[in-house]
Amino acid sequence: MKVDTRATAPIEGQKPGTSGLRKKTRVFMEPEYLENFIQATLNAIGGAGGKSFVVGGDGRYFNREAIQTILKMAAANGARLVIVGQDGILSTPAASNLIRQNKTDGGFILSASHNPGGIDEDFGVKFNAENGGPAPEKLTARIFEATTRIDQYQIAEVDDVDLARIGETRLGDMTVRVVDPVESYKALMETLFDFDAIRALFSGGFTMRFDAMHAVTGPYATEILENTLGAPSGTVANGIPLEDFGKGHPDPNPIWAKPLMDLMMGADAPDLGAASDGDGDRNMIVGRGIYVTPSDSLAILAANAHLAPAYEKGISGIARSMPTSAAADRVAAALGVECFETPTGWKFFGNLLDAGRVTICGEESAGTGSDHVREKDGLWAVLLWLNILAVRKQSVAEIVNDHWQTYGRNYYSRFDFEAVASDKANAMMDALRGKLAGLPGQSFAGQTVSFADEFSYHDPVDGSLSENQGLRLGFEGDGRAVFRLSGTGTEGATIRLYLERGTEQGGETSMSPQDALSGVLAAALEISDMEGFIGRTTPDVTT
Ligand code: G1P
Ligand code: ZN
Repeated sequence: MKVDTRATAPIEGQKPGTSGLRKKTRVFMEPEYLENFIQATLNAIGGAGGKSFVVGGDGRYFNREAIQTILKMAAANGARLVIVGQDGILSTPAASNLIRQNKTDGGFILSASHNPGGIDEDFGVKFNAENGGPAPEKLTARIFEATTRIDQYQIAEVDDVDLARIGETRLGDMTVRVVDPVESYKALMETLFDFDAIRALFSGGFTMRFDAMHAVTGPYATEILENTLGAPSGTVANGIPLEDFGKGHPDPNPIWAKPLMDLMMGADAPDLGAASDGDGDRNMIVGRGIYVTPSDSLAILAANAHLAPAYEKGISGIARSMPTSAAADRVAAALGVECFETPTGWKFFGNLLDAGRVTICGEESAGTGSDHVREKDGLWAVLLWLNILAVRKQSVAEIVNDHWQTYGRNYYSRFDFEAVASDKANAMMDALRGKLAGLPGQSFAGQTVSFADEFSYHDPVDGSLSENQGLRLGFEGDGRAVFRLSGTGTEGATIRLYLERGTEQGGETSMSPQDALSGVLAAALEISDMEGFIGRTTPDVTT
């Protein structure tokens, strides 16, 4: 095998965000763009010599080409083994599982998650560490630093590897093992859940629609739900992964999964609706006539996890990202387990999971997961819901309403303002930051500020500090508004405004979220002067 050492120069802007490096696909296709980032990552982990990796992606445009480049670079850098999903396909949780099961030194996941795919859309690369989880901040900082100093990269001059054929081949001294992307993930799910109970649920006439959104979970959901659990064929919709996700936005929320929402709110709704995103780590849960917010879903899963075999002895703790509602905190308090509030992004859960401090984690952005892998896991959440439904023999609506009665309800909504000019978004955030100290005690739109701060996180496991993680406004009466700039966008800035209001236990739980949150929203808009800074207050997406 001929190894070519090629000269290169640093490329600006290769700083990983909330979830890896995300850019327009055409940017990733520019000469040296991908090569620099991969070489910088290998440099940042102390080289690839003798190491093993997992590589796979969500099948979006440029997935296969990027994988061939990574294989050739891994071989040239002296890696021992790379495990690849057949046809380059691996969902993010399945990749995390393969890293853990095979004890590899990490893995490359090629995805821009729920962002659209295609030559004019988005691409991304994320490095996961040997625990199967996203690289922690100190590693992403090292990777970024390496991208600013890079002057050469190594690549093998060999033919492409045939990714369609399961089995082993060699690239020089490196073994490439092409594996079935679903097999070991499915085996893991079988150890966690009561598949017999779920099978009985389906054979008893339970109906479901799973929308794979033309993304990576199609083959996983078809194999597990239809072929293994006996859900009727056709339960999985849009199950063939497409390079451009059928020109859709593979984001499982009421906006982008509208056909599923319409079905679930209509007269012919099945018992359960669910969807997952581009790379299979997000989930949406909808009952007949009722959408379950991700924050509520996290709380309900935590409260009922003991009904599934993997968690029957109880959970050790719950972690949620800061903007996620406090519904899960109520469950943790009732169970008498620890509860952690972390910055946005799954990478902050890794230490807590590794240390056994938490079993279940979640984010308001449709991510829930447990200690079975080190990523959020869309199908896992769906299967846990199915397991709970099979045991409780109640509808989704009954379970949700019962939960609110027992614990109280946290009304919740997120507003996204997309493609805002970065300078305007930053000016608004800076002005708000500057005001925080003087806000407590003042009233806006009838809401009295009880606290105002910028969130920072002190990791209780490794002691690291993460600052600038969102501006928080607390209001009397358990209201809260959070402002954050997205770390995953590829165009301008996205401002996220998260609104929440908790009720007393036994309080009113049947209001519409818009009504329940109108006061908090009005106060947040007034305090931030969003209209003045960005010229609008109507979000592009409300979830
Ligand atoms: C968004 C979500 C966040 C999630 C991330 C990756 O990040 O808000 O919860 O972890 O995508 O899926 P953001 O764009 O807000 O930085
Ligand atoms: Zn995702």
